Amino acid sequence: MSGDLSTVTRVLYPGSFDPVHNGHIEIIETAASLFDEVIVAAMVNTTKDGVFQLDDREEMLTVSVAHLSNVRVKMFSGLVVDLAQEEDADFIVKGLRAVSDFENELQMAQMNNAASGIHTLFIPSASRSSFLASKFIRDFARWGGDISAMVPEPVAIKLKEQFG
Ligand code: PNS
Repeated sequence: MSGDLSTVTRVLYPGSFDPVHNGHIEIIETAASLFDEVIVAAMVNTTKDGVFQLDDREEMLTVSVAHLSNVRVKMFSGLVVDLAQEEDADFIVKGLRAVSDFENELQMAQMNNAASGIHTLFIPSASRSSFLASKFIRDFARWGGDISAMVPEPVAIKLKEQFG
């Protein structure tokens, strides 16, 4: 039922979420307000060196979106298009922070569309979140910086455990 807006619309929001930060939460909350069901998937990005295991990232996501009743979290190791098919998702949703995100995101959207016909919808991040990036949060936390205003509380605790 891909793209059929007359019925329940289920979207898939994939990402590394290593870790999830407030910019991601904002996109998830927006998607949850626009669509009937949102599946957030912690996935493997082979181009990035991460810190947290997939199950830790899933756990942090799960507690961080517990206030949203139409959001489900899972982890998946494989192609986004395969997960979208498995979950019968109508659209992929991605957040865009800046023009610099666009080139890569556009290419992924086109690749996924060519592979399976699924479309990607982009949600622009609000200016208050547009500087947030997991790699900077990891770096700040690693060197003792205060990231408590940038991530959900359980993530701040987990980062403290990880980096001391
Ligand atoms: O948060 P990120 O790192 O920007 O998310 C990128 C992610 C995980 C969505 C991307 O790397 C991805 O889709 N990985 C799964 C494997 C896949 O489908 N690769 C083809 C992308 S065109």
